Amino acid sequence: MEYLLNEKKTEIVFQNDFRIAFQKETKKVFLIDKKVYQLFENELGKIIDGASFLIYASEEKKSLKTIEQIYRFLGENNVNRSSIIIGIGGGITTDITAFAASTYKRGCRLILIPTTFLGMIDAAIGGKTAVNFEGIKNSIGTFYPAEKVFIIPKYLTKLPEKEIKNGLIECIKIALIKPSKLYDILISNKGKITSEILKLAIDLKLDICEKDLEDKNERKHLNLGHTFAHILESISNYKISHGTAVSLGLRAAAKMSLQSGYIDDANYKKIIYVLDYFKLPDKIPEKYKKRIRENGLEILLQDKKATSRINVVFFNGFQSVFIKEIIEPNIILEALDNFI
Ligand SMILES: NC(=O)c1ccc[n+]([C@@H]2O[C@H](COP(=O)([O-])OP(=O)(O)OC[C@H]3O[C@@H](n4cnc5c(N)ncnc54)[C@H](O)[C@@H]3O)[C@@H](O)[C@H]2O)c1
Repeated sequence: MEYLLNEKKTEIVFQNDFRIAFQKETKKVFLIDKKVYQLFENELGKIIDGASFLIYASEEKKSLKTIEQIYRFLGENNVNRSSIIIGIGGGITTDITAFAASTYKRGCRLILIPTTFLGMIDAAIGGKTAVNFEGIKNSIGTFYPAEKVFIIPKYLTKLPEKEIKNGLIECIKIALIKPSKLYDILISNKGKITSEILKLAIDLKLDICEKDLEDKNERKHLNLGHTFAHILESISNYKISHGTAVSLGLRAAAKMSLQSGYIDDANYKKIIYVLDYFKLPDKIPEKYKKRIRENGLEILLQDKKATSRINVVFFNGFQSVFIKEIIEPNIILEALDNFI
């Protein structure tokens, strides 16, 4: 599968043995999620034939400090613009690797091997790189698609259930944005992740990214559920996970779309059915509701300060969404309070 992201070709390769991509290259380095390295040491030990830097995958380490350490590592290993930097791990590792590759010497070659469900269908594809800065997630970054992304489903065999669920929620989100058979296939496979599911989800996302890599128009549709999710994550100090927050956000977006008359009851039920089918969270704990009433507006206004407007993605059909600017932020908070 090949895509053009801002005229740069990115190839998605379904192939277990990714050595082929760099075997002949003389200059390569590896940035690897430490846990993934430990879990798959037997196999990765045989494949990795260059200097490697292990990354402890936490949001705290997704920082400029880690990037500085990586720049030093790249310098020590004489990495230049024609060298290949290979990132192996979940979204934290691929975001860090891609950011380092895009900035070191103004851009080195990049290959990514995502090892989480979310990484395969979202973080490692689509060209966004990022690190966190002063408590704000992903506030520093670039657009820098990898030349190749290898999708190797066997890495999912050791992925904890909660990480599978995080990926599933983003997969459901993409299945609700655009017409495709992904919705039906997700349900008929009862949660089993197949290559077909991965291919469909990747294709849906990259079709959007091809048209709008830099998030100016259609790519904003991928923020479905995310305005609500961001409030829930902030209000709970990230105790509510991103996946849980997005699943609650999808419910809120669907309910608000129904109440505003953008969708009818039949479409509303179809959207909610998949969330219920996978038993995804449907209630905000009362203590957080109280905090939303007290501090929700502040969070929304901070967002507005950063982006100058509050745009919410609504449904206007099943597998169809649109963006609407919200002038009165209180209606978002009321939706969270009343609908879930
Ligand atoms: N660039 C983008 O477009 C984009 C999109 C979505 C999310 N993200 C970013 O991705 C990050 C979240 O990434 P994520 O959810 O993929 O995972 P992660 O990198 O946060 O990793 C989650 C955990 O799973 C472990 N892990 C990774 N692969 C494993 C495997 N195969 N088996 C067992 N354990 C494994 C990690 O060590 C870590 O403990 C966030 O920082 C988010 O901001 C980026």
